[in-house]
Amino acid sequence: MSKLTFPEGFIWGVATSSYQIEGAWNEDGKGESIWDRFSHTPGKIADGTNGDVACDHYHRWQEDIALMRSLGIEAYRFSVSWPRILPTGRGEINQAGLDFYSRLVDGLLEAGILPFLTLYHWDLPQALQEKGGWPTRATAEAFAEYTDVVSHHLGNRVKHWITHNEPAVVGFEGHLTGRHPPGVKDPNAALRAVHHLLLSHGWAVPVIRGNSPDAEIGIALNLVPAVPASASAADIHACRHFDGYLNRWFLDPLHGRHYPADMVANYIAQGHLPGEGLTFIQDGDLDAIAIQTDFLGVNYYTRAITRNEDAPDNLPQTTSPSSERTETGWEVYPDGLYHLLSRLHFEYQPRKIYVTENGASYSDGPDTDGRVRDYRRMDYLRNHIAAAYRAIQNGVPLAGYFVWSLMDNFEWAKGYTQRFGIVWIDYETQQRIPKDSALWYKETIAEKGVCMNRNRSDCGECRGDPSTSTAP
Ligand code: FCB
Repeated sequence: MSKLTFPEGFIWGVATSSYQIEGAWNEDGKGESIWDRFSHTPGKIADGTNGDVACDHYHRWQEDIALMRSLGIEAYRFSVSWPRILPTGRGEINQAGLDFYSRLVDGLLEAGILPFLTLYHWDLPQALQEKGGWPTRATAEAFAEYTDVVSHHLGNRVKHWITHNEPAVVGFEGHLTGRHPPGVKDPNAALRAVHHLLLSHGWAVPVIRGNSPDAEIGIALNLVPAVPASASAADIHACRHFDGYLNRWFLDPLHGRHYPADMVANYIAQGHLPGEGLTFIQDGDLDAIAIQTDFLGVNYYTRAITRNEDAPDNLPQTTSPSSERTETGWEVYPDGLYHLLSRLHFEYQPRKIYVTENGASYSDGPDTDGRVRDYRRMDYLRNHIAAAYRAIQNGVPLAGYFVWSLMDNFEWAKGYTQRFGIVWIDYETQQRIPKDSALWYKETIAEKGVCMNRNRSDCGECRGDPSTSTAP
């Protein structure tokens, strides 16, 4: 059967984040964020750009809602810029910032689009960074206050909340590799940052519940399923270590299982934690982090093949069934999404799962006729959606899927060199052009599923007219 039909009620969405699309970095009382500071520092962003203007969504949000509506998008995942609401992180509220998101939410609801609001997609107020940022506990306290302000104002209309986006990236890219702000390279600071991110999630959930009693609340994690490069003990060990570092370090405490003991021992052995271990944990922290949520958000792009230098190389190596990579260099591996979702369901049993991000960077642009034939993105999305379908067949309570991203945008330290959008952005004119993948996604939503025979958006098979198929 070539048509995969999703269950009734499955939610089809698109995702963005504030710093990547809004622009208006210093307008209407917004405070400086760590991403403003970082991108304004020479040498930090690959192409020397920043998010000052980005997609100018702050001024074009109505056009963007109309665009989503025209594509039949059912849900929009966006994030709130903390320094737009609280310019110095705590205390005085910037009403203009709240009004912006209030109008956005009203506009979405009028267009029949469900708002999925992410509270933190990386743009910490710079003022809080100067007081120590995430490695300090006070930032978690500030996050709970900020959550209260936003959920108090929007909780009557927003019924889907995501506390944090990818705490691993904030913790490790910000404080271990230094590729993201604050650009620190200190393993102990990274582990403290992660703990306070998770703690602030735990504190935020009851705050949102208080302000929006019937809301669904979750956290979005970047999870990367790993396989060993060979069946050698060394590669298997490397695989387990990678999984502990990126996946279990987050999943375990969120599901009441403490931080994984093998990783704590590793970190102590490496000197990343003191001999006594996790000294930053206070009484009650782990219970707070393990609070029951309504869903788990999964951001999936690729898998990892882990290799230990000590492994003998005369053993058969795991290779990719397709050698295809997106322009970020990430392997295209749809089965990884199926494996990941199944594992989460069987090992952790979240009440519900949403794929809160999935997508691909390809730079295909407008042809002379103005059309963007981004067939590789279409294939990527279709094959991942099919993997999600198989997971549902396997019993996974997957309730929705969000494409990253609605539109091309500022891809963090890579600047504008990567295009993930299903809508093309002409950064000179700010023109939006739905790519072929957007038109294909529109049909997918309308048909509540994908046709595996259809390689091109203009294939007519599902409409009973195979003669119109132009699949190669
Ligand atoms: C994720 C981020 C998102 C975007 C995609 C490509 O890690 O959450 O903002 O950058 O990667």
